[in-house]
Amino acid sequence: MAIKPVLKMGDPVLLQVAKPVDRFDSSELHSLIQDMHDTMIHLNGAGLAAPQIGVSLQVVIFGFANNPRYPRAEEVPFTVLINPQLTLLSDEQEDGWEGCLSVPGMRGVVPRYVHLRYQGMDQYGCAIDRTVSGFHARVVQHECDHLQGILYPMRIKDFRLFGFTEVLFPGQEVMDD
Ligand code: NI
Repeated sequence: MAIKPVLKMGDPVLLQVAKPVDRFDSSELHSLIQDMHDTMIHLNGAGLAAPQIGVSLQVVIFGFANNPRYPRAEEVPFTVLINPQLTLLSDEQEDGWEGCLSVPGMRGVVPRYVHLRYQGMDQYGCAIDRTVSGFHARVVQHECDHLQGILYPMRIKDFRLFGFTEVLFPGQEVMDD
């Protein structure tokens, strides 16, 4: 287990399209996920994609417990999602604040689809198939965007709603993701 450095926006690895995983339940995959988990917990993140620690594979992790210290308290189960496929279940979108461990210290308002189905595998090769909405759907879209080389600032429509966390939310503890 290891805490890895997180690549920051500007690093070309973050702009690559990640490759699918073709071998499950391997020691390499388990140690990648352990490193991602340790890194995400250490940095108090809500999610992390493998390219953020320099591994261009289609692996994301996300999830957090309900925590009253944080303004957004919607619980999302801890999930390992590999080779994800998203299916939109409606055209409805909503705006919400996002941050990213690769864009530290900043927040921006991003429109995301409200309802979607996601499918993929876990690290053991077991199928995952969930229908979600709201903040859970937002987190999945943010993390899966990383696998396509897309960072959330690329999705911002109104740059007046983009800035430094300490200025936008003074005195608040805000989770990074
Ligand atoms: Ni991110």
